[in-house]
Amino acid sequence: MTEPAVGFAGGKLILTGEHAVVYGFPAIAVGLDLGTTVRLEPVDGETHVASEPADDRLLAAVRAALPAEGLCVRVSSDLPIGCGMGSSAALSVALVRAHAALEGRALTPDREFTRSLELEKVFHGTPSGLDNTVAAYGGAIRFERGDPPKIRHLTPPSCTLVVLESGEAGDTAALVAGVRSRHPGNQPTLDAIGALTAEIEAKLDDPASLGPLLTRNHRLLAELGVSNARLDELVELALAHGALGAKLSGAGGGGVVLALVEDPQPLLDAAAARRIPAHLVTLGGRA
Ligand code: PMV
Repeated sequence: MTEPAVGFAGGKLILTGEHAVVYGFPAIAVGLDLGTTVRLEPVDGETHVASEPADDRLLAAVRAALPAEGLCVRVSSDLPIGCGMGSSAALSVALVRAHAALEGRALTPDREFTRSLELEKVFHGTPSGLDNTVAAYGGAIRFERGDPPKIRHLTPPSCTLVVLESGEAGDTAALVAGVRSRHPGNQPTLDAIGALTAEIEAKLDDPASLGPLLTRNHRLLAELGVSNARLDELVELALAHGALGAKLSGAGGGGVVLALVEDPQPLLDAAAARRIPAHLVTLGGRA
């Protein structure tokens, strides 16, 4: 039997700059080891998805990425879907990589980015490209949208994060449209996030200073109207259990909260006691 062609891409967490990035401000995001794998097996007949869930957007991305005939597609992921951890960008890049592997080619990250961005548009309209950039290049990235976008590779901060799932999926396209509908009245908040991102970049390797800046970022995102009661509650839970700082990460309206911690255990215990799904993420080789 022919071996399947396999493509993997990692998810991401946005440390700062979500939403403001749509208005030209920089954002900083880090790639994760958690991610999405696509397997392509040659078969007779129409290309089809054999894994669950095979929702309409996945089918549309598969149609856009792959030949109409001859493939069985299986997708597996250890990223929660629609949670601001870059599941759709990871899927887009994994599809592009699997297709290249099938054709016996390796693409440059630049090509992977360009091709996957087309697929990402199937998932949510006009993405800034931040998620795809991190999925294609990995590591820590400072990103400014544009054609082409301005990308700077940063040394990943050495820190420990606890990621708390809100249990609700945020709708990125609707949240971005909501911020747009309140523009330009919310420009001062976007400006403040832009200024904060510069401060965060300067303090990436100083967790004691970084923590409060992340919490300030969350408050500004709440002012922008993309947080909700559950996300605010998770931020407070994290701060009450030793986090240096915490914020929603991604489009908001659900998704995840990331908490910067020295010792993850108190927060992991508090999350377990409340049955809140939590992930421990270590960046920059921190044990
Ligand atoms: O896909 P998410 O939930 O990580 O959000 C993407 C970040 C936004 O700035 C809200 C949108 C974008 O296209 O950059």
